[in-house]
Amino acid sequence: MGRKVFVSRREVFSASHRLFNPALSDEENERVYDKCNNIYGHGHNYVLEVVVEGEIDEKTGYVIDLKKLKEIIKEHVIKKVDHKHLNFDVDFMKGVIPTAENIAVKIWDQLVDKIPNGKLYKIKLHETENNSIEYFGG
Ligand code: NI
Repeated sequence: MGRKVFVSRREVFSASHRLFNPALSDEENERVYDKCNNIYGHGHNYVLEVVVEGEIDEKTGYVIDLKKLKEIIKEHVIKKVDHKHLNFDVDFMKGVIPTAENIAVKIWDQLVDKIPNGKLYKIKLHETENNSIEYFGG
């Protein structure tokens, strides 16, 4: 049996969002989201880490070819979110308040069944240098 390791790929994307819950009044939105409720939105340079767990394949020495993982993330996530407005432009974010929490969960959903070797272990999303979210599924 191969040794179990965790491999990760980091990608960056720039996107804008507005934190707003249509079920709340304007005053409540203002109180909950403060500056993030600014009507025209604002942007972040997000840093995404995708971690895959698996056993090292004896033949290749890989869990998953990181070149392949990079292409999968580009295709299913980065192409859809980079330089986009998360409230309007992104199919997989429709109907979701685009907090870092929700973005991380939705990115997980985009990737979980696309990993050909090993399995998705964690999504980590940094929204700012100091703020990040980790999601392990479930
Ligand atoms: Ni923000």
